[in-house]
Amino acid sequence: MEASKEGASLRPRFHLAFPVHDLEAARRFYGDVLGCNEGRSSDHWVDFDLAGHQLVAHQSKSPGTVVHNPVDGDAVPVPHFGLILDWEAWHALADRLRAAGMHFVIEPRVRFKGKPGEQATMFFRDPSGNNLEFKAFRDDAAVFATSHNSAALTRDEAWELLTQWTPSQALRQHARAVEIVMRAAALHYGRGVEDQEQWGMAGLLHDADYDQWPEEHPHRIVAWLRQRGEEELAYAISGHFTQWGVVHKSLLDKALVACDELTGFVGACCLVRPEGITTLKPKSVRKKLKTRSFAAKVDRTEVTLGAELLGVELSDHIQFVIDALRPHGVELGLQGRVDKPASGK
Ligand SMILES: [Fe+2]
Ligand SMILES: [Fe+2]
Repeated sequence: MEASKEGASLRPRFHLAFPVHDLEAARRFYGDVLGCNEGRSSDHWVDFDLAGHQLVAHQSKSPGTVVHNPVDGDAVPVPHFGLILDWEAWHALADRLRAAGMHFVIEPRVRFKGKPGEQATMFFRDPSGNNLEFKAFRDDAAVFATSHNSAALTRDEAWELLTQWTPSQALRQHARAVEIVMRAAALHYGRGVEDQEQWGMAGLLHDADYDQWPEEHPHRIVAWLRQRGEEELAYAISGHFTQWGVVHKSLLDKALVACDELTGFVGACCLVRPEGITTLKPKSVRKKLKTRSFAAKVDRTEVTLGAELLGVELSDHIQFVIDALRPHGVELGLQGRVDKPASGK
């Protein structure tokens, strides 16, 4: 049997039957110009071997309608078919077609330049008006990549996810506050500006699933980030939930533990003082840390652990958090009564 003879090379092959107005013209084009071997045929149809895929040209008197859709600035004719070649083979084909005087529907060009899925493409027609596209990807692994799953997470996407998952204003504000402190921490404890976006997003997203799935926290957000390819963020966020016993390895992991609870605690301190963040000192924060009944939900051991992980004095670290939050006092509602409208009117 034929299939068993070719068993070693058996693989899924694409099959496409398409209309042509003239079989001889199709033979010249697919056979001579494109170099496809011819398979079986009748006086109504011809099989062509297009790089192992089966194309069947069928004699037809009514060619299909073609529509044009925009793709990266081109009006792409639909339907069309063709091959994804490697980068060199694509260029060789483009040269060969140019030399053969091919009239292109879309001249050979590179689209999505500098983006995931950057690709070389060209469109031309067979003698029956069927459109063909041959392309090549700069990175073959990106054939099915979307900008969504291959590019780094952006702050806009992180914010969108947070607002989708977190209806609570208070929790959003906590996320924002930890983001602000983490961005400052990237400059203070991290490698500087190159860490800033990532560290900020760790702060922004660390509690993103808490509002809706508190019993699963932070499993949901960690899984989402892993799926998104953001392993470092996922790992750091899994570690901020110290009950999971994750080892804090990177500076990001450590900084998130050091900034999360303390930022929440400093915020709580601001809310009970008339001048809020504007005059808050580490000394009064430390005093309140000792008062177990104050902001009782804040885990004091986590606050101490954070400073230890970073190898800094707790008072210095508290001062750092205050300094990071102070310029954002109004936005975060930490300004005390200073920013409230004057009463009595
Ligand atoms: Fe949390
Ligand atoms: Fe938190």
